[in-house]
Amino acid sequence: MSQEPREEWSGRLGFILAAVGSAVGLGNMWRFSYLTSENGGGAFVLLYLLLTLLLGLPVMLAELSLGRGSGRGPVSALRNFGGRRWSSLGALFVLSGFVILSYYSVIAGWTLRYVATTVAGGFPADGGEFFTRVSEGNEAAAYHVVFMIITMAVVMGGIRRGIERTALILMPVLFALIGGLAIYAFTLDGAGEGYRFYLQTDFSQIMDPDVIRQAAGQAFFSLSLGMGAIMTYGSYLSGRHHLPQESLVIGGADFMVAFVAGLAVFPMIFALGIQSDVSGSSVGTLFIALPTAFQQMGTAGTVVQVVFFIALFVAALTSAISMLEVVVASAMDSLKFSRKRATLIAGTAITLCGILPAKKQSVLEITDMIVGDVLLVAGGLALAIFVGWHMRDPIDHASEGAADVRWFPVWRWLLRVPIPLILLFVLYNSIKSVYAAIIG
Ligand code: PFF
Repeated sequence: MSQEPREEWSGRLGFILAAVGSAVGLGNMWRFSYLTSENGGGAFVLLYLLLTLLLGLPVMLAELSLGRGSGRGPVSALRNFGGRRWSSLGALFVLSGFVILSYYSVIAGWTLRYVATTVAGGFPADGGEFFTRVSEGNEAAAYHVVFMIITMAVVMGGIRRGIERTALILMPVLFALIGGLAIYAFTLDGAGEGYRFYLQTDFSQIMDPDVIRQAAGQAFFSLSLGMGAIMTYGSYLSGRHHLPQESLVIGGADFMVAFVAGLAVFPMIFALGIQSDVSGSSVGTLFIALPTAFQQMGTAGTVVQVVFFIALFVAALTSAISMLEVVVASAMDSLKFSRKRATLIAGTAITLCGILPAKKQSVLEITDMIVGDVLLVAGGLALAIFVGWHMRDPIDHASEGAADVRWFPVWRWLLRVPIPLILLFVLYNSIKSVYAAIIG
C-alpha cells in the first residue's frame, strides 16, 4: 500500500476536454434521443435546456468547488467539509458510480459489437433480430468485459497519461463524427419532418410533471452530476481556474453535442420512415431502428453505420472513465490503495456486477430508470442542501480564481431555495413513477 502524490491536470484544455468527455456520452445520443422521442420532441428539448441552466450549472459549480477545495474524491471531500455524517453522501456517490458503470458498460459493449459486425460485413438486414441476439446473454457479457478492460487500462494510466491524453485524442474525433452525421442527415430527402418534430415546441407539454422530471433527470445524467464525477475531476484542479466559467463551457459543450446529435438522429429517423419503430422502445431508438434503415441504403448506409457506432463508443468510453475514476479516487484516498491496485479491484468488481444487466435486459432498463430518475437527482438534492445550508464559506471556495464575485450570492441562494424545491418535486414524481413501473 502506498500513497502517491496527488496528480494534477496539465492545463486548462486537458481538464476541459476530460470533463466534457465525461459529460458527453451515451446520454447525449442514446438517452437523449429516446427521451426526446417519447416526450414530444421540441418541448422536451427546451425544458432540458432550461433545467441544464437552472439546476445543472449551479450544481456543477458546487461539485467543482468541493472537489478543488478538498483535493479529494467524494467521500473524503464531504468528510473534509461536512464531517463524518456527510461522508455517507460521498459513499452514496461512489455507490452510484459503481452501479451506473456496471450497466453503462453493457450498452457500450453493444456499440463495440455493432462496429465489429458491420466492419466485418456480417450485419443482417433485420436490426431487431440482431439486437435481440447480441444485447443480452453471453455475447453481451463478453463485450461488456472487453469494454471494461479498455476503461481500466485508461484509468490505470493516471490523470495525465491516461485520462487526459485519451480525451485530447478522442474528443475532437467525436465532435467531427457527430458534426459529419448531422451534415449527412441534412442532405436526406424528408429530413424536414425530423427537424419539425425535433424543434417544434408543444407548449402544453412543458407543464407536464412527467416531462419535467425526465428532463431534470436527463440534465443530471448528461452533465455527469449527482454522483461526484465532476467533483472528482475538480479535485485534480489548481486554484487558478475560474470555476463558473469552466462550468459554463462544460455545460454548453454538453448541450451542444446533444443538440447536434439530435440534428443527426431525428432527420434520419423521419427521412428513413422509421418513426413508428422508434417510439415505444426505449433502448431501440438507436440500436434497432437506425441500423435497419442503414442496411437498406447500400454501401453509404454501411459507412454511416460504422461512423455512428464508433462515435457512440468513443462517447461512452470517455464517460465510463470518469465513473471508474470516482470509485478509484475514493479507494486511493480512503483505503490508501495505489492507483493500479484500486483500478484492478474496483474495475473487476464492477465488471462482475455488470454480468447481470448483460444477461437480462429488464435489469438494465430498471437500473437505468432508478439511477437516472432517482439516484442522481437525490444526490444532486443532497449536495445542493449541503453546499447551500451546511457548508461554511462555499462562496470563498467557488470564487477562488474568479475576478468578479457579485454573482456568487445568487448562486448560493439558488442552491438554498429554488433548486431543492424543484428537485424535491422531481424526486417525488420520479419515485412515484418508478414505483408504478416496477410494481404495476
Ligand atoms: N454524462 C454521461 C452521459 O451523458 O452519457 C453519463 C455519466 C457519466 C453519468 C458520469 C454520470 C457520471 F458520473
